[in-house]
Amino acid sequence: MNYIISSRNFISRTFFTSAIIRQSAIPPKKPPKRLIAITWKSMAATAVVAGGLTAFMLYVKNEKQAALEKERKRQIGKAKIGGQFELLDSKGNIVKSTDLLGKWLLIYFGFTHCPDICPDELEKLAEVVNLHDKNSSAPPLQPLFISVDPDRDTPEIVGKYCKEFSPRLLGLTGTKEQVQKACKSYRVYFSAGPQDVDNDYIVDHTIIIYLVNPDGEFVDYYGQNRNAKEIYESMLVNIQKYVSAKKSVWF
Ligand SMILES: *[C@@H]1O[C@H](CO)[C@@H](O)[C@H](O)[C@H]1NC(C)=O
Repeated sequence: MNYIISSRNFISRTFFTSAIIRQSAIPPKKPPKRLIAITWKSMAATAVVAGGLTAFMLYVKNEKQAALEKERKRQIGKAKIGGQFELLDSKGNIVKSTDLLGKWLLIYFGFTHCPDICPDELEKLAEVVNLHDKNSSAPPLQPLFISVDPDRDTPEIVGKYCKEFSPRLLGLTGTKEQVQKACKSYRVYFSAGPQDVDNDYIVDHTIIIYLVNPDGEFVDYYGQNRNAKEIYESMLVNIQKYVSAKKSVWF
């Protein structure tokens, strides 16, 4: 009751006060100027805020475009290396690249008559696989050896050769066409050198270990100068990146 009365009093007082002002003969001096001043100030403030927001939105848009452009370039760069292949395992069974989806791949191209580079690289590869296999939370990994010497490297020879380095190493070879196609996908260059008196020859080839993700996409490569630990650490980084990229699709 008390409240209603006092609020009524307040309303009536306000009403009458304003009525008195309006009816007053003397026009108020300052208020119009102040009103204009406030309007200009608020307009300026609005402009500043709007300008800031626009600038921010443009910045975000630019950042987004830059990121998209970067991603597009990365995809193009990535598309250049890697691709599908169809080869033969040690038993002569067809192994397609699509059969290997869902696993990380470490691929090395070489040949079994290779004097010292291939054994060194394959030992290194086996070491990386050992480091990886020690980690119980690591995702599936398949190391591959792909022969660039289909004339001499039969499925059986490749199978025996790979066993010398690691029971985990899957050796693949194939017809000349199959091998050439796999090499072309991975931009692996190879050429057989001149034969000596024993019909022996060296195959000059690219010495690189390729890392392929579970989606069958090439992600990284390691030259001869990288040791097993460095390759393993780089793999961990790539696996981490892959996992967080997959997560960001869902969250
Ligand atoms: C084991 O693998 C997981 C998944 O790739 C990784 O996050 C973790 O750092 C690895 N641990 C070691 C000791 O390498």
